[in-house]
Amino acid sequence: MRIFLDTANLEEISRAVALGLIDGVTTNPTLLAKAGLSFPEGVLEVCRAVQGPVSLEVTKEDAAGMVEEGRKIASLAPNLVVKVPVTLEGIQAISVLSKDGIPVNATLVFQPLQALLAARAGAKYASVFLGRLDDVGHDAISILGECLEILEAYGMATELIAASVRHPMHVLRAALLGTPIFTLPFGVLLGLVEHPLTRSGLERFLQDARSVASSMRYPK
Ligand code: E4P
Repeated sequence: MRIFLDTANLEEISRAVALGLIDGVTTNPTLLAKAGLSFPEGVLEVCRAVQGPVSLEVTKEDAAGMVEEGRKIASLAPNLVVKVPVTLEGIQAISVLSKDGIPVNATLVFQPLQALLAARAGAKYASVFLGRLDDVGHDAISILGECLEILEAYGMATELIAASVRHPMHVLRAALLGTPIFTLPFGVLLGLVEHPLTRSGLERFLQDARSVASSMRYPK
């Protein structure tokens, strides 16, 4: 199981890397705009900050444009992964880039057949957007389950990423399905660790420890 951080915020990335839990980063144009990351300097800083794949999304809509931009992205740093939306044009671009040996993260996947076609086109990763599915009244977790099942049925090497994760329950349910990769906003990552009973339990232990502190002697 691997955890990517879904952000373009350098401070969040360095804090998460320090936790020792981060295997990669995913970004999208919205996250880049929000973080105000410079291009390519800021993106390269992200690539240096994390040991693992960093997904950067193409901004062109036609296949030729996506391929050209994807090749440029891949040439910037060895750990960059080209993020390509699963449209007809995108599938064409995924085929070309993958045949060139460029790793692709097929993004904006909302149903199992999109995952299957992205895998057939050679994508290394496919990102299933859980939160956005739930937002429009679909059962995101059962769709994710079908995506996992369909790739497994055909022995596809493409790895699914649980994306658009909004809360720890998404992570729990996706983990119970054996989803190989999660891409998490920093706040959700923190939410996986923090529990009010851990906090209150620790406060109580520390309070009691202070009352016996004077009698505690560690051997030298
Ligand atoms: C995935 O790679 C995307 O960047 C991301 O998970 C989108 O999440 P959102 O639906 O919260 O914007």
